[in-house]
Amino acid sequence: MALLSISATSTTNTSSLKKLKLEIQLEVFESVSELPKDIQELMNKAQQARENAYAPYSHFKVGAALRLLSGETVIGNNQENAAFPSGLCAERVAVFHAGATSPGQTITDMTVSVRSLKHTVTEPIAPCGACRQSLAEYEQNQKSPITVYFMGESGKVMKAASIKDLLPLIFDGTYL
Ligand code: THU
Repeated sequence: MALLSISATSTTNTSSLKKLKLEIQLEVFESVSELPKDIQELMNKAQQARENAYAPYSHFKVGAALRLLSGETVIGNNQENAAFPSGLCAERVAVFHAGATSPGQTITDMTVSVRSLKHTVTEPIAPCGACRQSLAEYEQNQKSPITVYFMGESGKVMKAASIKDLLPLIFDGTYL
């Protein structure tokens, strides 16, 4: 397992201008077999869910699995639509599924796996921006981090310890 640091901006010190340096740290696992056993099982559930995705337009199947504090697992997969924007990503299907069936339950971990029917995806694919924003709402409400593990069809797995690491400068309800 390796640590990956990503800097969003660089720091410069001039008298009139202040620049902020935002740094996130992700963990990188060489393969699923390096993950803790319980997370391997959760990734397996994301992979199973992925295969049931409804993706006739993109041919890009995504599966997500959430683990709740109760130990329960909730899954989601992408659901596309002929009117493209009417479809939904796997991560949001999963988190809304959890919100609908286990309201108020803490989500501890999320696993995501993608498979393209057109090419082999071997690099980790992170949840899209809209999914990060939706997940942030749940993380904010439950006041504890959701750890996210994401991967392609095979290969490396990346781990973000919190949605905050995937979405710096989060917009949330406290601003309203
Ligand atoms: N997709 C997801 O399910 N999750 C993401 O984070 C990014 C994209 C889906 C949406 C669409 O069905 C397909 O992948 C191609 O964008």
